[in-house]
Amino acid sequence: MADKLRVGVIFGGQSGEHEVSLVSAQGIMKAMDKEKYEIIPIGITKEGRWLTSGEPMKLLQAGEQRSRGAEEQGLVPVDRRELVPGTRETGFPKVDVVFPVLHGPYGEDGTVQGLLELADIPYVGAGVLGSALGMDKIAMKAIFISHGLPVVEHLALKRRDWERDPEATMELIEKELGYPCFIKPANLGSSVGISKVRQRGGLAPALHLAARYDRRMLAERAVNAREIECSVLGNDEPIASLPGEIVPCREFYDYIAKYIDDRSELIVPAALPPEVTRRVQELSIAAFLAVDCAGMARVDFLLDKDTGELYIGELNTIPGFTPISMYPKLWEASGISYSELIDRLIELALERHADKSRSETSYSPEQSDQ
Ligand SMILES: Nc1ncnc2c1ncn2[C@@H]1O[C@H](COP(=O)(O)OP(=O)(O)O)[C@@H](O)[C@H]1O
Ligand SMILES: [Mg+2]
Repeated sequence: MADKLRVGVIFGGQSGEHEVSLVSAQGIMKAMDKEKYEIIPIGITKEGRWLTSGEPMKLLQAGEQRSRGAEEQGLVPVDRRELVPGTRETGFPKVDVVFPVLHGPYGEDGTVQGLLELADIPYVGAGVLGSALGMDKIAMKAIFISHGLPVVEHLALKRRDWERDPEATMELIEKELGYPCFIKPANLGSSVGISKVRQRGGLAPALHLAARYDRRMLAERAVNAREIECSVLGNDEPIASLPGEIVPCREFYDYIAKYIDDRSELIVPAALPPEVTRRVQELSIAAFLAVDCAGMARVDFLLDKDTGELYIGELNTIPGFTPISMYPKLWEASGISYSELIDRLIELALERHADKSRSETSYSPEQSDQ
């Protein structure tokens, strides 16, 4: 009993993708080998309260909405293993490793990863930098460009500029990109706040919508594309799965096509010429390394139906992880089962923590390295 690894699985979170996270976490906890692991479920309500005792999954599924008390909205002194505000009475359970299964802001963006770094707890997936870059579509594209990786023509926009001079913002988009184009908030996921715009009349509502979710926004040329996805696994020497294809049942792969209308198709593996498969895999690994990712990522591509050009759309550091999600399905098609994948991700978390622990954290000039 005592030698089981204690794995904290964190789910829920303050994000529009809260519900998706619950489904992913249930899949993961169900598939984890109970002989090897003791599972410590940790739920975060939509208001940011951490639930560590009782049955956090049931509480969140029942819509646990208790908000944080005013006294908890600040920094609380905690012991090294007692991580989190709001858990003082019960104490934060001791864990050997954490599997954050949080999608979107306040979870996939480096915030929870930063907390785990400070607590010196190994965790699955990308670190602070990789998570933040993976969440921010503007910064991610800038890094990809600096590594010579192909991305679609786009413009970075500020909410402040749009609100101050809407005409100038719209003219800039028309001049640089034209129609159709996509307007997106820089930091989000699950297609929340994203619109496809076909003519001038659609531009202001699209910018208005994106501006509700972020201070920074993005306009992108719309590609007439096949949507190809590839799973990556590893730390410094990652491997890529066979690619898959998404065929959205709507105009584009919006929130409804992702989660509500079940007619979108996931084709595993994608029917692609071998050289395109190879290129997708190479670019996936290059994208993973470019943002200093770790553990896992799903890299999404747009394959232009008209020109055959391949663009990296985005990289997701905590991809959907239900048993029918693309990330684990692609590994299954590539020879790694769902439960093996979880084992491997936990090993990678421990390896990365051990590797990081080798770095010195103090310096004295007398013992310097000459
Ligand atoms: N430049 C583009 N050209 C064509 N389709 C796009 C483009 N950008 C986004 N899309 C469509 O919108 C969906 C969501 O966009 P994406 O950038 O992946 O945001 P999210 O992080 O919310 O998934 C994509 O899966 C695709 O269907
Ligand atoms: Mg996407």
